[in-house]
Order: sequence, then structure tokens, then C-alpha cells
Amino acid sequence: MADLRIHISGLELKNPVICSSGEHTMTAEGIRAAIASGVGAVVAKSVNESLAAKSQLDKTDYRMVGTDWKPVPWDFNAPQDASIFCRSGLIQKSFEDWMQELIFLDREAAVADCYVIPSLILSDLDQCVAYAQVVQKMGFRVLEVNIGAPHGDEAAKGAIVLERDASRIETIVKRLREAVSIPLWIKLTGQSENPALLADAARNSGADAVVLMGRFMGFLPDLETHKPLLNTSAALGGAWALPLTARCVALARKRLGPQFPILATNGARSGLDVARFLLSGAYAVELASLVLMRGYSALTQCVEELSDYLDAQGISAKQLTGLAADQLQSYAEQVDRPEIWRKFCPPVEAGARSENPY
Ligand SMILES: Cc1cc2nc3c(=O)[nH]c(=O)nc-3n(C[C@H](O)[C@H](O)[C@H](O)COP(=O)(O)O)c2cc1C
Repeated sequence: MADLRIHISGLELKNPVICSSGEHTMTAEGIRAAIASGVGAVVAKSVNESLAAKSQLDKTDYRMVGTDWKPVPWDFNAPQDASIFCRSGLIQKSFEDWMQELIFLDREAAVADCYVIPSLILSDLDQCVAYAQVVQKMGFRVLEVNIGAPHGDEAAKGAIVLERDASRIETIVKRLREAVSIPLWIKLTGQSENPALLADAARNSGADAVVLMGRFMGFLPDLETHKPLLNTSAALGGAWALPLTARCVALARKRLGPQFPILATNGARSGLDVARFLLSGAYAVELASLVLMRGYSALTQCVEELSDYLDAQGISAKQLTGLAADQLQSYAEQVDRPEIWRKFCPPVEAGARSENPY
């Protein structure tokens, strides 16, 4: 039986599959279903103090789109390559009520060798720091703070803050680090020129782990109505994002070294995708869209598929971590093969070329 355990900032997780924050972790029932699926941890739906962020939940909308960008039915049986295009908001419960609910769920999780992780989304920094102190005082074992939510640029001013500036990230993480000693995971945006630089800033300021990387914002026109789908820009994620996130994780590992825990999010849709992210240097993987697309049982399948893969490879989750990332080469290191490029050009004459270049 493959050894799935991994260690992040002094915590042992029974496996590296984490149910990521979203509407599916906004109720006690949803969180219980995620715990029961067998994942290593569950990140609860994020909260902050902003009334605008709470009221944004009433303006949310969601579409699943196929690879041709046309909507596909949201029937929890979506093809793996469908993308989710959506406007999300934050939980409308008060911080205090949500934390009261979560601390009981975290105790239930502990019995199942799992964690329920509260998640804060930055609005006002002083308030965020005060909330972090409450989280610690209540006995939570980890805190995730998302300072890179994709909706930050579109939401009402200050409702959700999206940080792309390394020095701002240093200020935020330092304040949080001074305030709490529990493990602090910082979730960062992918919408910056250099996410590895932002990860470095978070690490240097005291983060125990970084989560890379938030989804992208997109614009999708509807061919029938000639209007923007959902009327607005919206966050977009799909299986296609995996190589983009994987590169970001691999580059961050190169910059921060193998000892610093990086978690991957954005693009995993199966246990084999979790393995791909581990190979890219992630200690664990946070999945949200898969649950929204296929339900909580998809997480169980994910853990099983990862376990089968590791069994077949005769390797543990920990041993797999970073194997591909550590062999990442530059273009300049490649050997000269002048004959290659011609094989990949289409034939000029009519008729398809029959031989495959490889
Ligand atoms: C509908 C929806 C709501 C989300 N809400 C939150 C949230 O409240 N807090 C947060 O940190 N991330 C949130 N996310 C981001 C996910 O946790 C996850 O990081 C992201 O979707 C990328 O992973 P995926 O490809 O597995 O979906 C949300 C994502 C979706 C699709």
C-alpha cells in the first residue's frame, strides 16, 4: 500500500489531496461530505468583514463550458475537460458564527485524521490580523489567508483585495506572522508577472506555506446573444490550467528550495493530476472545481487514483514531490538537433504527410 502521508509546516496530512475553498465548503453538510470523502484536509469557504463581499454572493453566477466555450449542462457528470466560468462571493454568515461552526467541524475532522482549515480573504489588514488571532485562540490548527482572489479587480472596492506587489505581501504576511504562531498558509495570485517572487516575499515574511495559484479572469462572448456570458468578466479555471500552475510551482520550488512547502491549486481534475502537481514540486494539491463538477465522491476517486499510481510506481507521495521539477532544464541546455524543426511544419503540397515525426 502506497505511503500517501505528507508533512507541511509541522502537520501530518494522511494524503496530499485537499478539498479547496468554495461554495461546496460553505455549509456544515458540504464540509462533512468532504471529510468523509477521505481527503487530507478541507479548506472552508472564505470569510471577511466586508459587507460588499457578502452581498456579492447574491450577484454570483456560474457556467460550465466545454472546450468549444459553449455552455454544457451542470449535471455533476461534466466531462473532465470542461471549464468553470463564474463570479463568486463570500459567505454571508458573520465571522464569529462561521468560526463557531468550523471549530466543531474541525474536531469531527480530527477523528477522521483530517483538518478543517478556516480561510480568510483579505479586505482590511487590521481586521484580518484581528480575525487571525481569534482563529488561533479558538484552537484551529492551521489558517489559510487568500490575498490573491481573482475577483479582487472586479469586486466592489476593498471587498476582496488582490495583491500583486511583493512589498505589500511582505507587509501583510509580517503582520499576520507577528499576530499568530499557528501554521499560516498564504494563497497567492497567478495574475502577476512573477508568482515565484510573490511566493518568496511570503516565505521571507514568515508564511509556513504558499498556495499557488489563484484562477485567472476571463471574458467570454456568447455567440447567440452577442453579449458577455454572465454579463461580466469572471474567474475561469479548467484542466488546461494544470501546466500553467505546474510551471509556476516548479519555478517557485527552484527559487525557494525543496524544504519550503508549496501547495498547488488551479487545474487538478484527477488523482493523476495530483501526481503531476507533486512531480512539479507541490507538497499537496487543493481541488475545488472537480467537486463542483462531479460531487464529493470525485475526491475519493482522486485519493484512490493517486494511491494506485504510487503503488504502481513503487514510490511514496513524499518521494514523488519535485522529481520532475528538479530536472527542469533551460532552452540553452538542449542539444542541437538541426533536423527536427522541419518535421513539424505542415506539407506545402496537397495531401497529408503520412509519417509521424516521432
Ligand atoms: C465557485 C468557486 C468559489 C471559490 N471560492 C473561494 C473562496 O471563497 N476562497 C478561496 O480561497 N478560494 C475560492 N475558490 C478557489 C478554489 O479554492 C481553487 O483554488 C480554484 O478554483 C482553483 O482550483 P481548481 O482548479 O481545483 O478549481 C473558489 C473557486 C470556485 C470555482
